[in-house]
Amino acid sequence: MNKEIKEILITEKELREEISRMGKTLAEEYRDKNPLLICPLKGSFIFAADLIRKMNIPCEIDFMSVSSYNNSTVSSGEINIRKDIDTDIAGRHVIIIEDIIDTGNTLYKLRELLQSRCPASLKICTLLDKPSRRQADICSDYVCFEIPDKFVIGYGMDVAEEYRYLPFIGVYSPN
Ligand code: PRP
Repeated sequence: MNKEIKEILITEKELREEISRMGKTLAEEYRDKNPLLICPLKGSFIFAADLIRKMNIPCEIDFMSVSSYNNSTVSSGEINIRKDIDTDIAGRHVIIIEDIIDTGNTLYKLRELLQSRCPASLKICTLLDKPSRRQADICSDYVCFEIPDKFVIGYGMDVAEEYRYLPFIGVYSPN
């Protein structure tokens, strides 16, 4: 294994089993509602792709690219939309599909923005939740794994765009 990957936090098998369970939960909740899954790029694309196939009910997906940091390392408190969804969400049942909630600042602003567009319902489903780092007043409706305060990579998550391809969730530790 790469020297920068200190440990495997969540294995491929654990991911597969939990995402299958989450897919069934969402399918029960959203059957006959034709939900719209919104996937904020880039980190959530692998989770969303696996989850939607485990839901196995009629649903749609759209993609968004947002940043709450406006090219600065300090949060600006405002959300910067690089790419918006193409779908009108008024009256739709919407689920935001996230890879990780850390400080919660990105999702807080994103939820506010989407809520202003009058969906019938708006919920959040996250693969990973790091509650110890939370700054914004937000929690996820559906959580696959709660994790400790470690720098995680793989399964869509990166460090400087690397490691998104890993099939497991690892802990990053540069030498
Ligand atoms: C990650 C992740 C969330 C956000 C969570 O995205 O996908 O959107 O950070 O952090 P927060 O809770 O502290 O706001 P990132 O900015 O790394 O972009 P990426 O998904 O393109 O890798």
